[in-house]
Amino acid sequence: MELMRFDESLPESPSRKRETQEQIDDTYAQIVEKYKKSKLIPWRKFVETPSFMNLVGQLTNEDVIDLACGEGFYTRKMREMTQGKVFGLDYCENFIKMAKWQLNDSDDIDYRQADCSLPISGIPYQFDLVTPTFLLQNAVTEERFEQMIRNIWNLCKPGGRVCGMGSSPKVPADALLKEHKYGRSFTTDPDTYFKRNSSKYIVRIEDKDADLDISLVLYWYSAEHYENIFKKLGFINFRWVEMELFEDTENQEYWKDFMDGCSLIMYEAFKPMNAN
Ligand SMILES: C[S@@+](CC[C@H](N)C(=O)[O-])C[C@H]1O[C@@H](n2cnc3c(N)ncnc32)[C@H](O)[C@@H]1O
Repeated sequence: MELMRFDESLPESPSRKRETQEQIDDTYAQIVEKYKKSKLIPWRKFVETPSFMNLVGQLTNEDVIDLACGEGFYTRKMREMTQGKVFGLDYCENFIKMAKWQLNDSDDIDYRQADCSLPISGIPYQFDLVTPTFLLQNAVTEERFEQMIRNIWNLCKPGGRVCGMGSSPKVPADALLKEHKYGRSFTTDPDTYFKRNSSKYIVRIEDKDADLDISLVLYWYSAEHYENIFKKLGFINFRWVEMELFEDTENQEYWKDFMDGCSLIMYEAFKPMNAN
């Protein structure tokens, strides 16, 4: 297996709480190429991508900002769909470089390196749609988690929408075992996972055909915590949206274990029209 960010075994010791965003950045910098490949594996192709694009729905002239845009997988898709402004932010320099490298002459995407867990400055716009695609699960503390959502609020126009996606906070550790056959495995700390916000766990993604074996360190927050912080900052109509199987539907039986209590989930929320 490649690229475990932390090779020490769980459970977490008090000193490990002091890990910085910079350490996480190093991990992502190393896996950028591999991660791009990972978008081709079956559960991403048949479930993740079409589910998320279905939630985003039709775009025409909307301004969109993709937070934790990575190498721009979803940012490019949204660029194809709207005539409005499209921005992509990620704190990893290598991902931003790779996103820019993939721009065509006609593509107008403003990619910027920014840590979305700290106050974001220098973007003098608000957006109709904010897409934190796999962002919130990277917040190392509750404070960083809340700051990420405050950034989403500040970047969202009144009447605007947030469409997010990430690891589901609703799945207990033992239920995650069933995803092993799809190439996803989880290392959780039984003392904290599903019990305590900012609880660290590791997702390993493997695919032999794609020669892929990567591990990501993520942080669990309760579903209630998500809902409370979105509400506290002023968002309305927060709702969880389950993933769906859009392709390979003739193999429902094979996908059953992946779809039942899926470890991925999406969410949507709105900024009221009368907010700033
Ligand atoms: C799993 S990748 C998802 C990339 C992209 N959204 C996609 O779906 O292809 C998670 C991304 O979050 C970025 N990230 C993690 N923490 C971040 C932070 N605090 N600010 C900005 N980006 C962050 C990483 O650099 C990485 O690109």
